[in-house]
Amino acid sequence: MAEDMLLWDQTIFKNGEMFELDYVPEHFLHRESQMEELMFNLRPAIRGMRPLNTLCLGPPGTGKTTAVLKIFEEIEKHTSSVVPVHINCQVDNTKYGVFSRVFQKLYGFAPPSSGVSFKKIFEAIVKHLVEKEKVLIAALDDVNYLFYENEVNDVLYTLLRAHEVQPKARIGVIGILSDMKLRYPLDARVASVFLPREILFPPYTHDEIHDILSNRIQYGFFPDVVLEDVLSKIVECVENSGDLRVGIDLLKKAGLNAERRASKCISLEDVDKAYESSSSVHMRRITSSLEDDERVLLKLIAEGGEIRAGELYKKFQERTKLGYTRFHEMLNKLDTIKLINTRYSGKGARGRSRLISVENADDVLKELRD
Ligand SMILES: Nc1ncnc2c1ncn2[C@@H]1O[C@H](COP(=O)(O)OP(=O)(O)OP(=O)(O)O)[C@@H](O)[C@H]1O
Ligand SMILES: [Mg+2]
Repeated sequence: MAEDMLLWDQTIFKNGEMFELDYVPEHFLHRESQMEELMFNLRPAIRGMRPLNTLCLGPPGTGKTTAVLKIFEEIEKHTSSVVPVHINCQVDNTKYGVFSRVFQKLYGFAPPSSGVSFKKIFEAIVKHLVEKEKVLIAALDDVNYLFYENEVNDVLYTLLRAHEVQPKARIGVIGILSDMKLRYPLDARVASVFLPREILFPPYTHDEIHDILSNRIQYGFFPDVVLEDVLSKIVECVENSGDLRVGIDLLKKAGLNAERRASKCISLEDVDKAYESSSSVHMRRITSSLEDDERVLLKLIAEGGEIRAGELYKKFQERTKLGYTRFHEMLNKLDTIKLINTRYSGKGARGRSRLISVENADDVLKELRD
């Protein structure tokens, strides 16, 4: 057998888990200033004061979630009088869901999923904070998933006005948002208490991407698995998409392709073959959070080019038997997570009508195929 061939039980991955997208890296490079600002905003909590509210803003895959998780790790190592809770709003996308998550963190078990009023859960949270003298930091990650039906106003209002109900309750909020255009569609009464300090996460530069991926390669693969030409190519792919996830996913998929050939080294062709699937990691992250009926609706829009709301509803109703209220809610959700565009037509037999379309119809259809 040739020198550069892998045996069946050999692998090129030294630490395969480092190429999973939810891996929190040990070395978090080129985000020193953002980490410093976060620490500055949260430090008051360690002294028993309310932390400064914060909004982390930046395009997908620029390290926002990672930064917050790393800071939370630090805080938990340092003190037990501050309770940081990371809330994934893609998963917990209602007021009840958000506060259940906080409850679970404080008490170590989830509240019953039905039969308990929101008020009871909230009172239990505040009671715990006051009696145990703890400061709560709630990070609402991908907070745009709360933008439908003003859920976000309700959640923020409750968190930020808690001390008016119970003066000793100390709560700070971190919002995380990947679409700068969304900023905050907040009610005036909420905007006046949220007033967050913004921390910006710009796209990584060429050299920064190179550095971050080199580090991942150094610890994740055995030596000489990824040579410079392959790395350069992957860096280029990340630069084109702006999302570091593309690079990490490419390393994983290309690595698996190399192993399939029983090779000890990743080739440019291994990267090429992996590219189609890795380039859509971003779209996949969004569509994977959708319910089945929402996927049906999105598909109908993607197939229809630009479609009138009325016509769309008819098709949707035929397929799912769902009523107009649900249709309207789903349309709103797809709109707030920026999967669809809506605009009003200038004229029409029955006046203006709402026109709906999908931004990247081909990518969306590709993702919804399987
Ligand atoms: N500076 C960095 N050093 C090492 N790894 C990084 C760095 N920045 C991001 N990553 C990695 O890139 C991936 C994406 O990062 P992260 O999830 O923090 O992005 P995000 O800004 O929250 O994106 P989104 O807005 O899509 O949620 C993660 O797997 C993370 O480990
Ligand atoms: Mg994130």
